[in-house]
Amino acid sequence: MAVQRTFSILKPDVTRRNLTGAVNAKIEDAGLRIIAQKRVHMTREQAQTFYAVHKERPFFGELVDQMSAAPVVVQVLEGEDAIARYRTVMGATNPEKADAGTIRKLFALNMGENSVHGSDAPETAAIEIAQWFSGNELVG
Ligand code: RTP
Ligand code: MG
Repeated sequence: MAVQRTFSILKPDVTRRNLTGAVNAKIEDAGLRIIAQKRVHMTREQAQTFYAVHKERPFFGELVDQMSAAPVVVQVLEGEDAIARYRTVMGATNPEKADAGTIRKLFALNMGENSVHGSDAPETAAIEIAQWFSGNELVG
């Protein structure tokens, strides 16, 4: 498998509870390198753009509200098979269904406050990285 990059968000429930370092330790333990990282407070418009793929879903309004309610940490992760590797360490979207030892099993509060986002494909990773980082901010 090739070295890939994926886009990650540590969601408001993580920053609010001071768990940024704890989640980053799980990311690094999984063999992923944090090659870019910054703390931002998303506007509603930025959250709507980011999750535009879900705009017809019933939970869209709540998702946008939650993502723009408090600071998040946006990141680019690099490693072998990084997209699938990160989704594995994140765990299932619903933390009740997440495997033991995953970030969502360890830290998530519920389906909405589920601690992390990770890109689901190379195409979405590229779009999401470009929304938040310029090329010279990625230091691999
Ligand atoms: P993410 O995009 O945040 O990495 O999460 P994911 O791929 O595991 O899940 P996705 O289907 O893309 O959903 C995006 C986020 O929307 C919230 N959600 N709420 N109440 C609900 O039924 C529901 N379904 C999804 C979650 O916060 C999920 O992470
Ligand atoms: Mg998703």
